[in-house]
Amino acid sequence: MILEGKRLVITGVITKDSIAWHAASRALGEGASVVLTSFGRARRMTGRAAARLSAEVDVLELDVNKPDDLSALTESLRSRWGGVDGVLHAIAFAPEDALGGRFMTTPPESASAAFQTSAFSFKALAAAVEPLMADGSSLVGMDFDATVAWPIYDWMGVAKAALESVSRYLARDLGPRRIRVNLVSAGPLGTVAARGIPGFEQLADLWRVQAPTRSASCCPTWRGASAARSCTSTAGSTPSGHPRSRNAGHRVLWVGSSLRVWWIAGWPIERSPACAGCSAR
Ligand SMILES: NC(=O)c1ccc[n+]([C@@H]2O[C@H](COP(=O)([O-])OP(=O)(O)OC[C@H]3O[C@@H](n4cnc5c(N)ncnc54)[C@H](O)[C@@H]3O)[C@@H](O)[C@H]2O)c1
Repeated sequence: MILEGKRLVITGVITKDSIAWHAASRALGEGASVVLTSFGRARRMTGRAAARLSAEVDVLELDVNKPDDLSALTESLRSRWGGVDGVLHAIAFAPEDALGGRFMTTPPESASAAFQTSAFSFKALAAAVEPLMADGSSLVGMDFDATVAWPIYDWMGVAKAALESVSRYLARDLGPRRIRVNLVSAGPLGTVAARGIPGFEQLADLWRVQAPTRSASCCPTWRGASAARSCTSTAGSTPSGHPRSRNAGHRVLWVGSSLRVWWIAGWPIERSPACAGCSAR
């Protein structure tokens, strides 16, 4: 069990469909100790989803935009474990008027809200856990390829571009402490967050037409497993600051008006976690 003895903090579980739920499920199966985070009214839903995991896990309060919650998380983890080996940031939010084809009319406060919760929060979470992170530990965020302008994704797409940049700066600043920072880039999947995007099916349809497998995307279990394993990369074998694609190889085929062949879904990672550094851009 490759995660035996590892202490993982997994944010972003709200239902059993959440990518983070699959990461937690896989991490437990690989022997890790796991705590989840959730906030406000969503906590009850998180609790119900947590009850469907193979082991009992605690759910800690964390609204990632609240400094007091972040400080409390640090203290709670310090007294629970004394240190942390991996953290999954699986958090995103954008107000309705920042999505669904309203790019040109989105008010600045809605674009800012998308940025704060979906991108800046990666830095906020990293700063909260960094004092506890062991040598060789890992921070992982969830990406949706932000190198192109997608239909309907609008300011969430801009926030994901910011998240990619945030991950590079985190990799720069945390690398000297031997903390790795990476993103797992997934294809569209019908989670609570995705269903909140008006016209989400338009995105999913692109995969059915353009991905090599003609599937909507890689299965949630696969992406969860990838996220869980990325949380505890084998020291020395995994690059930091690179998004990893788990999106059914969508980008190897024609996308819009440009042919890009820079990524193939990284199946070898499942077979060989020690070589988790899949093709980098
Ligand atoms: N579903 C997809 O198609 C897809 C594709 C690529 C990337 N992603 C990314 O995966 C990650 C997880 O999303 P998901 O699709 O599993 O959806 P989800 O709805 O299951 O998870 C989103 C989570 O974000 C949490 N959240 C929102 N605001 C928060 C806040 N202020 N503080 C703390 N938590 C907050 C929610 O409680 C929820 O648990 C997100 O970053 C999302 O952008 C999703």
